Amino acid sequence: MDKDRIKDFAERVYRDMAGAMAIGMAYLGEKTGLFRALADGAAVSAAALAERTGLVPRYVEEWCAGMAAAGWLEHDEATGSFRLPAEHAFLLASEGTDHFMGGLFLAGPSLLALAPRLVQAFREGGGIPPEAFDADWLLAVDLMNGGAYRERLASYWLAQLPEVRARLEASGRALDVGCGVGEAAMALARAFPRAAILGVDPDGRAIGRARAAATGAGLANLAFLEGTIEAVPCEPPFDLVLLLDCLHDLAAPEATLAAIRARLAPEGVLFVMEPRAGDRIADNANPLGVTYYGFSLFHCTTQSLARGGPGLGTCAGPARITELLRRAGFAEVEPLTIKSFTNMFFAARG
Ligand SMILES: C[S@@+](CC[C@H](N)C(=O)[O-])C[C@H]1O[C@@H](n2cnc3c(N)ncnc32)[C@H](O)[C@@H]1O
Repeated sequence: MDKDRIKDFAERVYRDMAGAMAIGMAYLGEKTGLFRALADGAAVSAAALAERTGLVPRYVEEWCAGMAAAGWLEHDEATGSFRLPAEHAFLLASEGTDHFMGGLFLAGPSLLALAPRLVQAFREGGGIPPEAFDADWLLAVDLMNGGAYRERLASYWLAQLPEVRARLEASGRALDVGCGVGEAAMALARAFPRAAILGVDPDGRAIGRARAAATGAGLANLAFLEGTIEAVPCEPPFDLVLLLDCLHDLAAPEATLAAIRARLAPEGVLFVMEPRAGDRIADNANPLGVTYYGFSLFHCTTQSLARGGPGLGTCAGPARITELLRRAGFAEVEPLTIKSFTNMFFAARG
């Protein structure tokens, strides 16, 4: 055996462990408001930060030390102070924007807490059903995706489909399948006040939140339905169907896609957003790919297998996604050139 290789790999394992622990510490920073309290970029002692946040000083002191060791905070040894650089605050204390990364910090502990159940699934088959995922996971998905829907969907992303936008501007109908807590449907309802927007999702908790948010926002052209696509009538048809971060989660992807196709108007378009992954493992041998394989095992694959689905997984990749869309009957599948670090996009027609 090559001793250097053993040493290098041991270092690698510690680096990965450090990453997992840093995410755990970031979870604390997000939930307790520590990142927000540091957002002004000013240097502060741990004691002053504890006072500012009303948190227990000894915990805050240890957290500051750990986050500084991880490189998330800057530490000045001479004064004993800590500060959050503006560039880090841009990602850590920017809730509601499309650059906020806090969703990841909620996702990590929420998913890893299910590890013992996943061991059981590895041995006995089946999986962890959607209802077993906690409220943090629901919030994590919203924080990871919601900002982009609010800031980019109707403007930048749908600019790729000018004919659909024109129809929705005049009147038209759009459906969001697997709408979750409804951020994308709300973004459409705001951007196209003359269009009728419907969101559908089998998760009752998500639909409850979506309905409350839509009512709070006073969006009268928007409705939500708890259920799957089969609960949506085929007539009148839709000009646009969104399937966002959902296709790989489906228990019956081909049947759901065929049911979507049956509800599209002749010129209608299915807009698909999937996690950005390559078709080969080697394409995904990077931090985003490893993150997605983790999401896949701890959520996407297992919740599909739990429902008798194929468990397509978070890294299903463009070739498999395209093939599925074609098998479901779509004559034309166009990869869209929308810039995104985390997602890839397709338009399916015909
Ligand atoms: C990762 S979440 C994405 C939610 C939302 N589209 C977003 O991008 O934030 C996947 C969603 O698919 C929904 N889902 C799973 N199976 C479904 C089905 N057969 N029909 C519709 N939605 C489904 C889940 O309930 C969940 O809300």
